[in-house]
Amino acid sequence: MASLKNQAQATADFIQAQGSFAPDLVVVLGSGWGGLVEYITIERMFPYRSIPHFPQATVAGHGNQLILAKHENKSLMILSGRFHFYEGYSLAETTFPLRVAHLLGAKGLITTNAAGGVQTHFRAGDLMIITDHLNLLVDNPLRGMSGGEFGSRFVDLVAAYDSEWQDLAQVTAQALGLTCHRGVYAAVPGPNYETPAEIRMLRGLGADAVGMSTVPEVIVARQMGMRVLALSCITNLGAGIANHPLNHEEVLTVGQTMQQSFSLFLGTVLAKMAT
Ligand code: 6GU
Repeated sequence: MASLKNQAQATADFIQAQGSFAPDLVVVLGSGWGGLVEYITIERMFPYRSIPHFPQATVAGHGNQLILAKHENKSLMILSGRFHFYEGYSLAETTFPLRVAHLLGAKGLITTNAAGGVQTHFRAGDLMIITDHLNLLVDNPLRGMSGGEFGSRFVDLVAAYDSEWQDLAQVTAQALGLTCHRGVYAAVPGPNYETPAEIRMLRGLGADAVGMSTVPEVIVARQMGMRVLALSCITNLGAGIANHPLNHEEVLTVGQTMQQSFSLFLGTVLAKMAT
């Protein structure tokens, strides 16, 4: 069986065969963040289904394209639509595109998501800059890897979220008038939303927001030595905080509403990042 590194290298070679491209940063666009594509100069797009070894996404509301783009003299590899554990992939599979980004030369990960507010003072439409995480997932992207191919299997996560990039994001959000929190993101497997008791538990554990993604990407990126910025669009409050049922359409609708301001914010942050 081909090793993970061989597979990722084959995918990187496929992308390079269409014209050489060396991304400085890899950007993952989650629900509510797809509008970034309006602010950048697209050079090439690859539907995920055309890329060798890529998993295929199954969730509505995502673009499902790998985009190579330029933005303010930076080269970006953009993953418009991500793979989730709840779709049935292993976490090694969901993070495969980041292995490819690393082999193409990306030195930083900017990853975005839609998340539920666990703190009762959060509001739908707020931004949260992730400062740390609680990994409550039931798989690990490094499980079974023998270490060495992409870095140590015993990855340090003390300062996983780059503090300079957090500050840059906060200053930018404030300048644009966005309501911005800094906080801890809890990753759960999903796909069901939490019970009210689980939201109370998460708050007790120190979570500020909850979602079903992002953490595996951060682990893999840190294994490979990338700097990380992770951003949540708070699309709704967790179960039991507001007294109405949660649904995916609401998450998508709030994401759509915030899309323009969040994408302008993200484009501005990317432009100001030193690489
Ligand atoms: Cl409330 N929970 C989870 N797990 N993911 C979410 C969410 C809630 N809202 C948006 N994404």
